[in-house]
Amino acid sequence: MATLKLGVLVSGRGSNLQSILDAVQAGTLDAEVRIVISNRPGAQALDRAAAAGAKTCVVSHRDFASREAFDAALAAKLKSEQVEWVVLAGFMRVLTGVFIREMQGKIINIHPALLPSFPGIHAQKQAIDYGVKVSGCTVHLIDEGVDTGPILAQRAVPILDDDDEDSLSARILEQEHALMVEVLRGLADGSLQPPRRERRAAQG
Ligand code: GRF
Repeated sequence: MATLKLGVLVSGRGSNLQSILDAVQAGTLDAEVRIVISNRPGAQALDRAAAAGAKTCVVSHRDFASREAFDAALAAKLKSEQVEWVVLAGFMRVLTGVFIREMQGKIINIHPALLPSFPGIHAQKQAIDYGVKVSGCTVHLIDEGVDTGPILAQRAVPILDDDDEDSLSARILEQEHALMVEVLRGLADGSLQPPRRERRAAQG
């Protein structure tokens, strides 16, 4: 049985999901995608999951009266599939404490900037507008802030003089795909230990 039992939450294109599915399929990642959940019915990610033979499900946020009720339904679905790690792969909803406490320390997000710089949406455009020369991507654990949890790994990507949001996003995305799989591999084989906030704080 695979080491990492993953649930992947998606909202759109699903290219990061694809990189996970491809690595599992190729036998280079000891993981099993037990369920792919989308909050949007027509998400391309659902087609990618189905094509790879992964179980899919739509949990639409529109069907719930509150964020908390939506989050509780998501958590229940993941638990029913015996998911141990949750990957947010282009999941465009901010999760509340209800979900985060349920899956404490086991929720991984990928963000297209070098956090703590440029959290939130349009991170690539934020980086270009600011004028930084290097950006990149970050895989981190989720806490109750927006893009603020403990960092697992990062990759740097140069920003070129003629970059626009699209060209930079494409260059970063390539690195996202590799970084996501690298992190999951590290968690699967134990070579990557999730950082603990308390330990980092104690070290100053
Ligand atoms: C990626 O850039 C990811 O960093 C961000 O949303 C985008 C999702 O892309 N959180 P995809 O759906 O994985 O193709």
